[in-house]
Amino acid sequence: MLVASNRGPVSYTVGEDGSLTARRGGGGLVSGLSAIGPDADALWVCSALSDGDREAVRRGEGEPGTRMLDVPADVHADAYNGIANSVLWFVHHMLYQTPLEPVFDAEFRRQWASYETYNRAFAEALAEEAAPGAAVLVQDYHLTLVPGMLRELRPDLRISHFSHTPWAPPEYFRMLPRDIAGQVLRGMLGADRLGFLTRRWADAFTACCEQFAGGTGDTRIGVHGLGADGEFLRERAHRSDVDERMAGLREEIGAGRRAIVRVDRTELSKNIVRGLLAYEQLLVDHPEWRERVVHVAFAYPSRQDLAVYRDYTAEVQRTAERINERFGTPGWTPVVLHVKDDFARSLAAYRLADVALVNPIRDGMNLVAKEMPVLSEEGCVLVLSQEAGAFEELGEDALAVNPYDVVDTARALHEALTMPAEERAERTKRLAAAATALPPAQWFLDQLNALTAQSS
Ligand code: G6P
Repeated sequence: MLVASNRGPVSYTVGEDGSLTARRGGGGLVSGLSAIGPDADALWVCSALSDGDREAVRRGEGEPGTRMLDVPADVHADAYNGIANSVLWFVHHMLYQTPLEPVFDAEFRRQWASYETYNRAFAEALAEEAAPGAAVLVQDYHLTLVPGMLRELRPDLRISHFSHTPWAPPEYFRMLPRDIAGQVLRGMLGADRLGFLTRRWADAFTACCEQFAGGTGDTRIGVHGLGADGEFLRERAHRSDVDERMAGLREEIGAGRRAIVRVDRTELSKNIVRGLLAYEQLLVDHPEWRERVVHVAFAYPSRQDLAVYRDYTAEVQRTAERINERFGTPGWTPVVLHVKDDFARSLAAYRLADVALVNPIRDGMNLVAKEMPVLSEEGCVLVLSQEAGAFEELGEDALAVNPYDVVDTARALHEALTMPAEERAERTKRLAAAATALPPAQWFLDQLNALTAQSS
C-alpha cells in the first residue's frame, strides 16, 4: 500500500550542531493519516518542504516507511504556493472576493505547468515503488492529476484519491479556466475511488463532473467522515508537558474566569478575525462578562510564503491588540493570543475550555471541533459554523452560527457561557461520542477496504 500527499508525517529542522530534529506536521490530513503508523507494508510518499527535509533526503535519513521527494524548489513553490494554495484552496473554500479575485494570466499558466510537473514526479515515484496490483491512496488538492497520470503508467494499480477540503459547487468551480477545470476533474476520475469528508462535498464534486466532464464514469465516490483519535488524545493530553502548559495558561487566564478557546492554523478560511470581533461584540452587549471571561486564541502560522497569509496573520494580531487596549484592565487581558505552534499547549487549552469557538467560513471537516469536546474537563459548549464539514455530524449538540454574522456569534457565545451545567455536560458527552465515531485508523481502513473490495 502506498500513500501520497504533499505534507508528510514530520518535517525536519537542522540544529546548529547539524543534527536533524523531526516535528509533527500540522493540519487535518497529517492528524488523520498518522494513524497508519510506520506500518512495514505501507510507504508514505511526500514532499521535502523545509531545508531540514531536503537535508534529510540528501543524507538518506528519514522516518521509516516514508519517502520524501525533493522536487526542485521553484517547481514546488509554483505547485504548492501558486496553484494548490493560491488557486485550488481558494476555489474550494470560496475565498475569492473583491479585491482578491484571481487573474488567470500567463504567469498562472507557467505555474500550472509546474503543478503538472510536480504531480508527474509523484506519479512516477509511485509507479516505481508500487508492487503489482498495490493500492495507492493519493491525498488532497495538491495531487489532483496523480490518479490519471498513475493510471496511464500502471493500469494494474488500485488507486484512490481523498479530498481533505470542501469541494466547490459548479457555479464557483467554473471560475477556473475551462481546460484546467477539466484536467482537475479528469485527473481525479483516473482513480477507482474518490473519497470526501461529507456528503455535501461529494455531491458538489459530482455536480462539477456532470457539468464539466460528462459525468463521473466508472469512478466510485464515497464519504468517510474522519473523526478524532480519542485514545491518542486522552493519553497525550495527560503527559507532564501538557500539565505544565495548563498551569501556565491558568495563570494567563486568571482564577475563576471562563475560557473561550480556539485553536487554528492562521488561515483565512478559519475566520479568526470575525471570531475576535464576535468576542468583542459579546463584551459590548454583555458588559457583565468583562473581567470574567478570556478568549484564548491560538493561531499558528501557516503558508507564510504567501502575502495574503502574512497580512491575515498581522490582522489577527492587530485585532487582538485593539480589543485588549479597548477593554483590558491591569488584572485582565481579554484576549490571550499565541502564535507560536505548540501542540502540548493546544491540548492544555482543550482541557480547560469552557467554550470551543469553531467558526470557519468553510472547512472540509475541522478536527478541532471534534477534539475539544473529547478533552475538555468541565465539558465545553461548541459554537460551530454551519459551514464546517463537522457540522453534519455535530450540529445537533452544538450552537450553530453563520460565520459571517458576528452579532449572532456573540449571542451564541453568551448562550454558551450561560448554559446550565447539566445540559452542557450532556451535550459534551454526546459530542465526544459523535466526534470519535470514526477514529483515524478505522477511517483509513474503511477506505482501503472499500478500494480493494471494489477492484477485486
Ligand atoms: C489542510 C489540507 C492539508 C494540509 C493542511 C496544512 O488540512 O487539507 O492537505 O496539509 O491543511 O496545510 P499545509 O499547507 O501547511 O500543508
